[in-house]
Amino acid sequence: MPLPNDARLHALIPAAGSGERMGGSLPKQYLTLAGSTVAEQTLSRLLSFAPLSQFVVVTAEADLWWPQLDIAHDQRILSVVGGATRAQSVLNGLAALKASLKESAAEQDWVLVHDMARPCVRLTDIEKLIAECGPEGAILAAPITDTVKRAVNERILATVPRQQLWRALTPQLFPLKALHDALQSALAAEADITDEASAMERVGLQPKLVLGHTDNIKITLSTDLPLAAFYLQQQQREAH
Ligand code: CTP
Ligand code: MG
Repeated sequence: MPLPNDARLHALIPAAGSGERMGGSLPKQYLTLAGSTVAEQTLSRLLSFAPLSQFVVVTAEADLWWPQLDIAHDQRILSVVGGATRAQSVLNGLAALKASLKESAAEQDWVLVHDMARPCVRLTDIEKLIAECGPEGAILAAPITDTVKRAVNERILATVPRQQLWRALTPQLFPLKALHDALQSALAAEADITDEASAMERVGLQPKLVLGHTDNIKITLSTDLPLAAFYLQQQQREAH
């Protein structure tokens, strides 16, 4: 494990998206899931994970729902306003996190970035991510199982060999300062960054892939919500 013994580990949870693909007026993180909301399910899991010290939740500027949740007022959570893209939201969160820590300590702190829209993440997978992390960071991921096609105008150009292809999941774990600098540089260059690892890759680093469970789905379409409810139930059954 590359995390030094005195390194602190923080969680940053981007939740400033509007859930366009889900549709509807209520952003997907506030939809009902297993008796509470997606956001509460995700956060209560992370809050129960002992190695995490500070939590940053990034929400949209006009988010009227977040302050209404009891969990938003947990003393360990710092609420920050996000930006137009996920990368900008994460950078805003990192900047606020850095400012809230003593500058000297921030140098050796690590941050775990996890989508608010992934409520089924297993704490055992987070433990595995930390245990297997390399010095350039690590992400949970899963090998692609479908056959993959490259196409233009819905006509197939080629079949892409999937042996080397993985789906990137979250959490993604990186040194706080390195991730902050990589994201800042990517945004300044207007690079297309869809996860934290791609910002690190862009500056020449090679984060590790750590095999995660595929029930760690990102709620994106309306069919994902009943699926997430099913996975949560199944995980509860496994635990007993
Ligand atoms: N996110 C964010 N800031 C943005 C965009 C996304 O913090 N400007 C967050 C989302 O709230 C979500 C996570 O990043 O928790 C993953 O993004 P995604 O699943 O794409 O969520 P949305 O952007 O809300 O959905 P859509 O792309 O369908 O609009
Ligand atoms: Mg999005």
